[in-house]
Amino acid sequence: MEVRFLGHACFELIDGDTTVLIDPFLTGNPKAAIAAEDAAATTIVLTHGHADHVGDVSAIAKRTGAPVVAITELAGELGEEGLDVRDPNMGGTVKFDWGWVKIVPAWHTSTTPKGTYNTPAGVLINFQDTVVYHLGDTCVFSDLQLVGKRAPIDVALMCIGGHYTMDRVDAVDAAELVGAKTVIPCHYNTFPPIETDAQAFKSDVESATRSNVAILEPGESHTP
Ligand code: NI
Ligand code: MN
Repeated sequence: MEVRFLGHACFELIDGDTTVLIDPFLTGNPKAAIAAEDAAATTIVLTHGHADHVGDVSAIAKRTGAPVVAITELAGELGEEGLDVRDPNMGGTVKFDWGWVKIVPAWHTSTTPKGTYNTPAGVLINFQDTVVYHLGDTCVFSDLQLVGKRAPIDVALMCIGGHYTMDRVDAVDAAELVGAKTVIPCHYNTFPPIETDAQAFKSDVESATRSNVAILEPGESHTP
């Protein structure tokens, strides 16, 4: 399988014809690697309701027929638009033929483009036996260390841009708590308030923890 970065917090987990698409913000994303019309998805997973995460979910889900996994209230809102949704809450797991998605905490806020409030999350995904943890938007908090107790984390997709999330310094502590084999930074350099030095994050993580950091440009992939 491969983990492909599509810009900002959007990733694809790909294995043959199976594609799990996470936080598909492509239209209006200055760093988007592809157009929304070209996105493939057999399942879509959302961390929270902010526009830079739900993005093109409706158009892509309607075009592909992919089910959308999101926390209960966000899933409910998308279900009213006619999308095929799965609506777990914190700690809940949804199973697919390719693996499973578990909803875990994140410390952030969440308002959808329609103005409704809901709870933000991270997502732990077992994709063809590779465990990927997308932290969503979050600050550092001690319970990050609990997520990997369910399954050792191969790849952590981690926000480092600051301002709306933890910055690259706090993210070093987050990397230590998560304990993934590989950390892929995201949610930085998309807009001026979240510009940061990913190379400095990489060297700090690799000197302070046992994790490796893979910096991906939009469109690039990592194979665990
Ligand atoms: Ni957000
Ligand atoms: Mn965000």
